[in-house]
Amino acid sequence: MINDFDFFLPVKIIFGAGKFNQAGKEAANLGEKALIVTGRRSAEKSGLLSRLTAQLDRQGMEWVHFNKVDPNPTDLIIDQGAAIARRENCDLVIGLGGGSAIDAAKSIAVAAESGLPIWRHIASWENDYIAPAGALPIMAIETLAGTSTESNNLSVVTRVKSNEKPGYACSFIFPKTAIIDPEVMVTVSPKMTAITGFDILCHSFEGYVSKIAHPIASILNEKAIESVVNNLPKAVNDGSDLEARAQLAFANILAGFSLTHSRATLLHAMEHPLSGHFNITHAEGLAALFPRWLEFSWEGNPEKFKYLGKVFGLADSDNNKHNLLEKAGDFLKKIGLDVSLSELGVDLNNAGRLIDDALLYMAGGVKNNPVAAGKDEIFQLLKASL
Ligand SMILES: [Fe+2]
Repeated sequence: MINDFDFFLPVKIIFGAGKFNQAGKEAANLGEKALIVTGRRSAEKSGLLSRLTAQLDRQGMEWVHFNKVDPNPTDLIIDQGAAIARRENCDLVIGLGGGSAIDAAKSIAVAAESGLPIWRHIASWENDYIAPAGALPIMAIETLAGTSTESNNLSVVTRVKSNEKPGYACSFIFPKTAIIDPEVMVTVSPKMTAITGFDILCHSFEGYVSKIAHPIASILNEKAIESVVNNLPKAVNDGSDLEARAQLAFANILAGFSLTHSRATLLHAMEHPLSGHFNITHAEGLAALFPRWLEFSWEGNPEKFKYLGKVFGLADSDNNKHNLLEKAGDFLKKIGLDVSLSELGVDLNNAGRLIDDALLYMAGGVKNNPVAAGKDEIFQLLKASL
């Protein structure tokens, strides 16, 4: 039986080696004055910022650079960026970087449009939520393949006051244009490649096993899962492997389609509170939870978990839960992400809050998991992953 579905993905995707050089021309189709949102240093160090601003200059565009985004971008930084966009009358927001810069650009575009703090637009513990009513046009220029944010309608914001780290979805934050150029990714470090690449695997596999798995996204996810498993170790070992980089960037786009339509599951729902409260790297948190989550969820959809086993090289006769766990462990070792929560500095002294957060602002992910989980199950999974 095919699940009922809608499919809506209004992003102009420009993919290929050398396509970074089209950024200026594409930006000129969207606005006249851009706020360029980046992390603190890497866009300057890599030379990509000056390559972008030179293109904007050639198009006769004005621009302002906002370089305050850290990993796990916060509401306060987003509000700062939005204030600058309003003061400077920017009519376009360009996210240049990885997931954090692009996610921040998306939320800055929302807050700049409304003039309200971004937190007012995110459903949380408080009741003063106001749905976003629009956003400045957004352009995403991806410099590392990870969060799939360039091709989805999601943004994640960490709130300084409460350490909550929810994601929210709205159609206004689909980037109008996304430029994905594998050539600019060859300088990404092995560690960052592993982290961002593993996030792609989780997005695509969680979407694949999600209770609301989308029929089109599921087909795309099979390709994305295969691409990451076969190419991530290559890109970690040899960053200059352009084919492996292109395969990962492609998988990242497919995973973005999946996140938009099939969402994530319990794995992401458990991780967000961890990186919110402990400021750990998102995908390291995912990696620490991954084996126990696989074990817990396998029975909910054995056929789909066996697909991952097959991609990891298991023959039909050996394709069972036990062997999948072993293969998953080998894969994490191969990419240097075989970590435990304790090694990342996580403790369970305030486990109640971690669980409540997962069940509140990541409730959708919990609900989509192939095996149902409540407070007790989440606590046991966290404990087993320490
Ligand atoms: Fe993620």
